[in-house]
Amino acid sequence: MKSKSLKSEVQMDRLPRHIAIIMDGNGRWARKRGLSRAAGHRAGADSARAVVEGCRELGVKELTLYAFSTENWSRPKREIQTLWSLLKRYVRKEIDNIHREGIRCRAIGRVHELPQDVRKQIRKAELTTRNNTDMILTVALNYGGQQEIADAARRIAADVKKGTIRASQIDRNLFSEYLYAPDSPEVDLLIRPGGEHRISNFLLWQLSYAELVMTDTLWPDFGKEDLYRAIVEFQKRERRFGAVGEMRQRR
Ligand code: FPP
Repeated sequence: MKSKSLKSEVQMDRLPRHIAIIMDGNGRWARKRGLSRAAGHRAGADSARAVVEGCRELGVKELTLYAFSTENWSRPKREIQTLWSLLKRYVRKEIDNIHREGIRCRAIGRVHELPQDVRKQIRKAELTTRNNTDMILTVALNYGGQQEIADAARRIAADVKKGTIRASQIDRNLFSEYLYAPDSPEVDLLIRPGGEHRISNFLLWQLSYAELVMTDTLWPDFGKEDLYRAIVEFQKRERRFGAVGEMRQRR
């Protein structure tokens, strides 16, 4: 008998506004089955599809997926190529669906360093969906959290030099305007499948007060029920943002 879906346990009026996911465990999932790492990544792309759909159905406003880190260039060349072709195929196949669902998609990271055909595909997807407002799907590509902060600092320094801002104006709010996606709210819930308990240079600035839900499930096995479970877990936590119980509110 099929067990009851956890969806009914999600409190719809207390959804995390921004969910971020480190999609980890594709390689181990494949190895356990005697398959190639490429097959693991393909299965991982199916999980990404399921989770985007799950978030859209619930009404989660922002989802950010970590698809390629600045450190991932040290993987074998062939694996990197597989990841780019998977990404291109994913965008090609899914873009109509994503657009129909009112989802805006965008990439963050040092996107200008990606292969030209990948950049072209991303640009096209961003343009097609730019006016959609029901949900934002952000894919982190050639992304590093420290690099994002360094890039912001460099642009701030340039503006100070130009005289468009004064150094004394630099505070948390001004700094966040220089991040890759300045309009994106901070992350409420970070999900990390794959059994590791670390942040891995992901959204360092935006994760300041995020609730972390780590699970042993490998990413290709992660589906909508795992998403609901993580949200239910998030909703059980008391978020204090450094204050005491009844005063909690993010400033
Ligand atoms: C980590 O698993 C996963 C990645 C580096 C790539 C994630 C990319 C996709 C799922 C491809 C499609 C992306 C989108 C947005 C459609 P791993 O290889 O590090 O696994 P391991 O730790 O078990 O080796």
